[in-house]
Amino acid sequence: MKLLTSFEQFKQPTFSFGEGQEGRRARVAILLSGRGSNMLALVEATKTGILKGLAEVVVVFSNKPDAFGLEAAAAVGCPIASLPSQGRKREAFDADAAALLQQYQPDLVVLAGYMRILSPAFIQPFAGRIVNIHPADTHQHQGLHAYEWAFENKLTETKITVHLVDEGLDTGPVLAQQPVDLRGADTLAEVERRGLAVEHELYARALAELIKSARHAERSEASRVPQVIPSRE
Ligand code: GAR
Repeated sequence: MKLLTSFEQFKQPTFSFGEGQEGRRARVAILLSGRGSNMLALVEATKTGILKGLAEVVVVFSNKPDAFGLEAAAAVGCPIASLPSQGRKREAFDADAAALLQQYQPDLVVLAGYMRILSPAFIQPFAGRIVNIHPADTHQHQGLHAYEWAFENKLTETKITVHLVDEGLDTGPVLAQQPVDLRGADTLAEVERRGLAVEHELYARALAELIKSARHAERSEASRVPQVIPSRE
């Protein structure tokens, strides 16, 4: 499988572990609103896959207290938290959600089917640390229903995208993309099945690259610290 990456992003990570802490696992908060299949794939990757030794899931959070994904997260032993967003003003909810998540001190906030547009109240406390997976090329399709869009337009290929989140709708810098072959996929369910299989692998790989690049940058930074050479007197 080919991972198309924007190497500049990985060379210059937008977050850091903190001085002298680059050897520890990245603390990851996963946010979801629904089913949670990406969350489960990431949790599995931290336990036995590509994220093992690189990341730990410190909380799975939802804006929907009855989201199936929360139940699934608890069943695999993850701490869970929720705050209902229904009826709340966006900025006020986002400020409360950010404050709640900050208690878990996440290095990365990983959106996995978190169906909300984030306001500055949420983005600013975690600037450069929020990552999203989008089931299309974000340059071609933004927002919801990306698999429906691919199916209805009879696309022969779509591109899963992992990107950093900024204040626009799916406008942040792309970290990784992976094409999905849709030839012969003649139902929406089949389009989604093929896409999700790619999502589940790509997300873990992209996060692993991001974390490794942050570690690497910090090690290089540390090695640039001037050495004190004892005098011979
Ligand atoms: C996934 O396909 C994800 O890419 C998509 O929601 C689904 C969540 O599924 N996200 C978006 O469309 C964001 N714009 P999951 O809950 O099974 O991971």
